[in-house]
Amino acid sequence: MNDLIGFFDSGVGGISVLHEARRLMPNEHFLFYGDNLNAPYGPRPLEEIRRLSAAGIGRLLERDVKAIVIACNTATSAYAEIVRAEHPELPIVGMEPALKPAHFARHGGQVIVLATEATLRLAKFERLMERYGDDVIRVPGHGLVELVEAGKSKSPEAEAALEALLSPYQDRQIDAVVLGCTHYPFLRGPIQRLFPKAELFDGREGTALRLKDLLERNALRSDDSPGSVEYQSSAGEGAVALMRRLMGELD
Ligand code: DGL
Repeated sequence: MNDLIGFFDSGVGGISVLHEARRLMPNEHFLFYGDNLNAPYGPRPLEEIRRLSAAGIGRLLERDVKAIVIACNTATSAYAEIVRAEHPELPIVGMEPALKPAHFARHGGQVIVLATEATLRLAKFERLMERYGDDVIRVPGHGLVELVEAGKSKSPEAEAALEALLSPYQDRQIDAVVLGCTHYPFLRGPIQRLFPKAELFDGREGTALRLKDLLERNALRSDDSPGSVEYQSSAGEGAVALMRRLMGELD
């Protein structure tokens, strides 16, 4: 084992989570692997998402990382239980849509959960709905991951896509919008403009805090060196350049 913490996402979305982890733990060494070549995962069948997640997470395991963050709601829903069972010794942090805090933020209105098709249909989300599912509107974010992957998160196309998906709910009392995919924090501005009174929730901070806690409990924190980030992608240098750009946008 070495000092690296591995992050995995289907593409650049997990950068939004990595940014938070780095802010919280600036002395850690991170390896981010994005499977940009195969993004989006959301519309794919379960078995395919599992196969791709196994290959991507395998890249991190090859580097003998000390912990893994599955910085992807979709891959977590499809594959976290399997990889945890295969590596019981390794701290593995997954993600789920931040429905719980959104549920408690309601004041008589509804909650929109915007996530990928797979996240919204798999069993993990159903379990969450059983506990916090009152007044929830599920909205599959068709086309949004593709726009972020194309470097178009701040474009008129992104605004138009969000408006097409979300404007049908603008005449309702929406108290909270859950950004249930790690790509969506890059679309935060236009989502907030569509629902100016709603509170926006995502799992970034909770995930970074959970990682910190797990590292501390397992005596795996490194505090004595300046930290670093290594970026890797199945789609090569262009995707790595986008990762670096998005990381900079969040600073
Ligand atoms: N970033 C991912 C998530 O949080 C997956 C997006 C995709 O590949 O569809 O769900």
